[in-house]
Amino acid sequence: MVSGGAGYIGSHVVKRLVEAGRPVVVMDNETTGHRETVGAVEELTGWRVPYITGDVGDGEAVRRTVEEYRVGAVMHFAAKSVVAESVRNPEVYFTENVAKGIAFFRTLCEAGVRRIVLSSTAAVYGNPERVPIPEDHPVRPINPYGASKIMLEQVLGWLETTFPIRWVALRYFNAAGADPSGRLGERHDPETHLIPIVLQAVLGQRERMTVFGTDYGTPDGTCIRDYIHVLDLADAHLLALAALEGGHPSGVFNVGTGRGHSVLEVIRVAEEVSGRTVPVEYGARRPGDPPVLVADGSRLRELGWKPRYGLWDIVASAWAWHSGDVGDAPRRV
Ligand code: UFG
Repeated sequence: MVSGGAGYIGSHVVKRLVEAGRPVVVMDNETTGHRETVGAVEELTGWRVPYITGDVGDGEAVRRTVEEYRVGAVMHFAAKSVVAESVRNPEVYFTENVAKGIAFFRTLCEAGVRRIVLSSTAAVYGNPERVPIPEDHPVRPINPYGASKIMLEQVLGWLETTFPIRWVALRYFNAAGADPSGRLGERHDPETHLIPIVLQAVLGQRERMTVFGTDYGTPDGTCIRDYIHVLDLADAHLLALAALEGGHPSGVFNVGTGRGHSVLEVIRVAEEVSGRTVPVEYGARRPGDPPVLVADGSRLRELGWKPRYGLWDIVASAWAWHSGDVGDAPRRV
């Protein structure tokens, strides 16, 4: 079962699971997910994907789904994930992500599910003491979103002492990019993420984009992030599940390339990919943004994962999605 399978990352993982021949049932409450994305997965793969409109906090619906589809493993994406919103409304994040997540896990454990892969985040590290960030770096989230995810990781750890489950938490760095078909992609409203905002500015869907801060202690003065292609992220989920099935113990894994790119680099690549100029203004720092976030991804690499795509591929695939340019996005190896 994939909870939140109609969302941005969830839908890409559903497609990858179907392509790998794994039967999938999606559960999504459609607060931020779009059912049509699962329809697009069906069209792209030629397979029907059972779909339940439902909430992970609805124990009865979850139990029914686990029984009906004989679910043995769950990938849990369904969550709220906007950092600024979490700062404005912390209680919403603790209710939606933590309280419902705990109820969900408990129902799954009682219904006999044995493997859980949790969508977690680099936001658990807060302002890192050192980069690249390894998994054993202290976790000191600086916003309720990051706090909600570390709590879920800990809950899984404690549930494992009572139920015969094993789990993996994948701490994503900056998920970006889209399926090269141009049929699946990132669609948040309001949009806060850099790459979609840059491309919307290129397309004239917004007047300009603002670079948040040019006075950081980085080579060009703008923030550095570890952008990870959603297809590489999807592979990481399949690998994590396979590892659990192969007897790998529970644990947390960073998912990042280990390479950082500045905001100005992203803008340059967007201009190269689109052949157009990005209308830019330079503004103040956005509160809460650490200067550099780059993963030490060696733990996941030891499992055999290797990112296949770089920044150019990420931006090119996102461009195919945002510009409606359906077809295989160009790929530079
Ligand atoms: N940025 C701009 N202008 C914008 C938007 C973003 O300059 O209009 C900059 C930000 O200041 C930051 C970088 O682009 O330096 C990336 O910003 P995003 O909002 O795309 O991503 P974040 O690094 O802030 O956050 C992402 C996810 C979070 C997750 C975090 C953990 O959105 O959910 O990574 O690494 F918690």
